[in-house]
Amino acid sequence: MQNEPQLTWPTSDLSRIPYAVYCDPTIYEEEQDRIFRGPTWNYLALDAELPKKGDFLSTKVGETPVLVCRDNDNSLHAFVNRCMHRGMLLCRERQGNSPNFICPYHQWTYDLKGQLRAVPFPKGVNGEGGLPKDFDRKNIHLHELKIESYKGVIFGTFSNKSEPLLDYLGPEVIYEIDRLFHKPVHILGYQRQRIFGNWKLYNDNVRDPNHGGLLHMFHATFGLYRLSQKGGAKLDARGRHNITWNALGTDDEKTTEEGYEGTKNVYNAKFHLKDMSMLQNRTEHDDDVTLVILSVFPNVVFQQISNSLCTRQIRTDSNNRMELYWTYFGYADDDEDMTRHRLDQANLVGPGGLISMEDGEAVELVQTAVQREQDKHATVEIGGKGKIKTQKSLVTEVPIRGFYSYYCELMGFPVGSDATAK
Ligand SMILES: [Fe+2]
Repeated sequence: MQNEPQLTWPTSDLSRIPYAVYCDPTIYEEEQDRIFRGPTWNYLALDAELPKKGDFLSTKVGETPVLVCRDNDNSLHAFVNRCMHRGMLLCRERQGNSPNFICPYHQWTYDLKGQLRAVPFPKGVNGEGGLPKDFDRKNIHLHELKIESYKGVIFGTFSNKSEPLLDYLGPEVIYEIDRLFHKPVHILGYQRQRIFGNWKLYNDNVRDPNHGGLLHMFHATFGLYRLSQKGGAKLDARGRHNITWNALGTDDEKTTEEGYEGTKNVYNAKFHLKDMSMLQNRTEHDDDVTLVILSVFPNVVFQQISNSLCTRQIRTDSNNRMELYWTYFGYADDDEDMTRHRLDQANLVGPGGLISMEDGEAVELVQTAVQREQDKHATVEIGGKGKIKTQKSLVTEVPIRGFYSYYCELMGFPVGSDATAK
C-alpha cells in the first residue's frame, strides 16, 4: 500500500494549484511511482531513429534510464538501462548500433531481447571462483517495459494496468498524430535543454495557449501566433492531453491593436525582419492550421510550428530540475530546399530558440518565486472556472486544469476540500 501524499487542492475544478506541488521532494518521489511507473504511456522515441537491426538509443521515463533497441527480427524492445548483476548503467551511449549490450563494469553480455548471454570466467580459474553451479543465465533478463507504437511513435509503460495505447491517447490525439505523421519521417537532429524547474511547470507551459501570445514577442510581433487569431485548445475526454492550435493570418488589425494595446514589449507593429523567409508557412495539410502543440500526458509534446516539426520529451532529474530532449524531423521525401527551410525554422525553438528560450526562463523564474511560498496557490481562471472542456479561444488556461485533474487522480490527492485558497 502506498501512503497518500498530503497536499490540499482547495477547489474541485482545479482552479487553484498549490505551489508545494512544484517544490516538495516527497511528492516528486511519489510521482516516479504513481505517474512515470504508473498506468501511463510514456513517449520513448520515434521509429525513424531505429531503422536498422541492432539500432539502439538511450532515453528516460521520468528519472529511470531506459534503453530502446531493434532486434534481429525487427521487433522493438525497451529495457531499464541497468545491468542485472550489480546495477551498473548498461549502456552509456546516447545512440548507436550493436549486436548486443556489454556492461562496462563486469562485461556481462545481453542480446537484443535483453537475455543474458555471457558472463566472463563463469567457472573461475583452476576450479576456484566463478559462478555457483545453480546459476542459470537463462533466468537473467533485463527489466523490460511493455511498448506499443502508433504511426512510428513509440510509447512504453511499466504498468500492466495501463489501458491499450490507443484508448489512452483517445480520438483527438490520434487525429493529430495521424496528421503529423501522415508520411514517413526522417530525423534532422537533436537538442537538449536543462531547465532548473519542476517538470510539471513545463506541462503547464504547453497547456497555456494564453502565454503563447503574451510571453513571446517573436510570435506576436511577427504574427506566427497571436491571441487575436483563430485558434483554440482541444482536450481529450479526460482532459489529460491537450491540443493547442491556431491559424496565422486570421486576425484583423483592429482586434490585434486593441488586444495588444500597451504591450510594446510583446507586440510591436514597427518591428520587421529584413529577411522574412524564415516566417514562411509552406502548406502541408488540407486545413488552415499552422501551429499545433500536442501535449500527451505525462512526458511529450509534438510540435508543428509552420514547417518546424519536432518532439519534446520531458525527462525529470529532481523536484526542481528537468531536461527537455528535442528531436527534430522532416518527411523522408523532403527535397534539400525544404530541409533547409525546416532547419531555419528549427531556430524558433530549442534551448536558444527565438520563442522557446523564454519558456525555459519562465519555468525557472516560477520555480524561484514559489520555492518559499509553498502554502500559497496559483490562480487558474482564464478561460473560465468549472467544467474542464475544449476551448474555442487562445485566451485560456483551462488545459492546465485538465492536466491536474488526471494528475490528482493518479497521485491520490483529494480535490475540492473546503480549505480556502490563499
Ligand atoms: Fe511558450
